[in-house]
Amino acid sequence: MNPQKVKNGPNFMQQLNKKKHVDCALSSNSESSDDEVDEIVAIKKDVQKQRFSVSAEAYGQFNKKENFKAKFIPKSKEQSERIKQRMQAGFMFSALNDKEIEIVVGAMEEKIFHKSEYVIKQGEEGNVLYVVDTGELDCFKNYGKGDIFLKTYYPGESFGELALLFQSPRAASIIVKSDKAILWQLDRETFNLIVKEASIKKRQQFENFLENWDLLKEIKDPYDRLKMSDALFEKQFKKGDIILQQGQKSNEIFIVEQGRVGVNKNNQKLFELTKLGDYFGDQSIVAGTVESFTYVAEEEIKLMYIPKKSYSSTLKEIEGTLMKNIQIKYGKYL
Ligand code: CMP
Repeated sequence: MNPQKVKNGPNFMQQLNKKKHVDCALSSNSESSDDEVDEIVAIKKDVQKQRFSVSAEAYGQFNKKENFKAKFIPKSKEQSERIKQRMQAGFMFSALNDKEIEIVVGAMEEKIFHKSEYVIKQGEEGNVLYVVDTGELDCFKNYGKGDIFLKTYYPGESFGELALLFQSPRAASIIVKSDKAILWQLDRETFNLIVKEASIKKRQQFENFLENWDLLKEIKDPYDRLKMSDALFEKQFKKGDIILQQGQKSNEIFIVEQGRVGVNKNNQKLFELTKLGDYFGDQSIVAGTVESFTYVAEEEIKLMYIPKKSYSSTLKEIEGTLMKNIQIKYGKYL
């Protein structure tokens, strides 16, 4: 990514180091209590600790990684396939290679919970992460004045990674909403050695861009924006490559990272997309129609993209804006 093209702004980590920003990161409520201040101090310490642990655990100890004997819990072929499917649907594991996926699948342990049961309690110590296999779960956070509902988790999504990434107490509570929930549980050691490194690298890679991408202004929770990086990938194209063809449906929303993309209709060039954050492929994915234009690499370019399967858990939240933008961007050419 070209850092010069990204507007300067505080990233998630920097936010955590500034009380003003932490208030906004942790609370939709602008009043701050003593509890919050304590929490901020605790988080600052966690971040410092985490920075150390990222370099020591994730990046430094390759020998440890090689000697690591992952936990292995025997499973049927059908169970392994189901876990893989769930892992693919979510983000947390998107940066893993095939071998790493096998290790993680082997280490997963099935856990069954029932309606209203707490899977995670805010403030407690956390040693595992969960992937939802079946059922729905609600996430609440107490900022000092009672629980505030944050979101519902569905199959394929994962939660409980913050305590492992930051070595901090659980930042929210997760309670079973459906009659029953089947979860896959991953232990801290496997997470630290296999998933954490890839996940942190990926989150850091896109963090600055996501913090400053105008489109995401409506997504208020910095945690949700940070998580979006797990769903972002990069692709390079050579001059003359056709990225997306008029009349086709796209499987991705592409985002310009570096270089010029020509927008053509019936073999005539209409305009170019050149700005970091300019995006296309939205006609197929947001509006469900075929693409009205052909997109061509005008030079060697780098694009980010969000796969179609990740749309509902990333950008769907701002679908109204995306639909409006389709009219604004393409209206006069349709
Ligand atoms: P963890 O802190 O380990 O346990 C609670 C989980 O809730 C947390 O990890 C996240 O996975 C999840 N969560 C969802 N939304 C938020 C949020 N806004 N702030 C903190 N945690 C959240």
